[in-house]
Amino acid sequence: MADQYAQSGEDKQPAEIPAIRWEESPEGPVLVLLDQTRLPAEEVERVCTDASALVEAIRSLAVRGAPLLGIAGAYGVALAAARGFDVEEAANTLAGARPTAVNLAVGVRRARAAYLAELAESGDPAQGARAALAAARQVHREDAEASTRMAAHGLALLDELLPGGGHRVLTHCNTGSLVSGGEGTAFAVALAAHRVGRLRRLWVDETRPLLQGARLTAYEAARSGMAYTLLTDNAAGSLFAAGEVDAVLIGADRIAADGSVANKVGSYPLAVLARYHHVPFIVVAPTTTVDVHTPNGAAIEVEQRPGYEVTEMAAPQAPVTGAGGGLAVAPLGTQAYNPAFDVTPPELVTAIVTERGVVSPVTADGLAELCGDHAP
Ligand code: MRU
Repeated sequence: MADQYAQSGEDKQPAEIPAIRWEESPEGPVLVLLDQTRLPAEEVERVCTDASALVEAIRSLAVRGAPLLGIAGAYGVALAAARGFDVEEAANTLAGARPTAVNLAVGVRRARAAYLAELAESGDPAQGARAALAAARQVHREDAEASTRMAAHGLALLDELLPGGGHRVLTHCNTGSLVSGGEGTAFAVALAAHRVGRLRRLWVDETRPLLQGARLTAYEAARSGMAYTLLTDNAAGSLFAAGEVDAVLIGADRIAADGSVANKVGSYPLAVLARYHHVPFIVVAPTTTVDVHTPNGAAIEVEQRPGYEVTEMAAPQAPVTGAGGGLAVAPLGTQAYNPAFDVTPPELVTAIVTERGVVSPVTADGLAELCGDHAP
């Protein structure tokens, strides 16, 4: 099968897409985001001059994905401090903008702590603001470094699990440079395999309802020149049954202390399919996604999103934010179940790849050994 269904990205473009950047403008500093609700139709930037604009961008998924949320949250605190807003209030609203990805609260906390420490020391809010910005830049840099290391660990693991090479990898949601200071998490591993000629195909789940796979992962795959094929989420079962999937690679929004993994809704069914078909199910996430204070999967708060994201399809070329105005695909008044994430129990996860190394089998002890000193 496969090649007659294939869409390979022939127009090779740079894989690096700056998803976020800090800029000094004559009116003061701003945070510039690549608006992910407009991709792939348009590469449009959104300029945030305060934390509330950033909170809106986070809620509408203009900026999204766990690692990037951490970076954005840290810069958001720095922005509030630099522009003389109430830093405590900004930190609280930013940290609560989305509940599942723990990276957001971690990033906010790091910039806030740097601000408060410097303020206590110098008594000067301007110096506090500089310290918050330095912390945000550090979060950004560390994520880029983590991404490089995860790619190396992940590729080594793939090669170990699948010694034949020519990996056919299925992925869900979006985990590349759009969500990271570097090349991402799961996507960075696929990219590393592609670069050494060992990625035969990336199967890209479209990821209903907001189509992060179709709109964003296919966009990143095309830019990197890898062979990729898009499928509807419900086509994954037949792909496994046909023996076309060698491994599943996904990211994570929060990993509980017992190794339960919250990721984009639709990840858990893939884990069940993978187990049935004896295919490795690999989670790639930085240690900032591991939350040692969340004991298990049941304790992870799963964000519930508005029903109209399910009952309406956003019009082509229009923002896919679920803001309404899309094409109705259900009778008016239909209720929808729309959790943004689901939770995969540790026993279905073959391995968790972090920048510090690989946890496999996935156990509370194994995770604690790797991330025990990391307290988000
Ligand atoms: O709702 P989103 O688009 O922010 O969800 C993102 C995901 O679920 C990603 O898979 C996850 O954040 C891991 S990204 C490295």
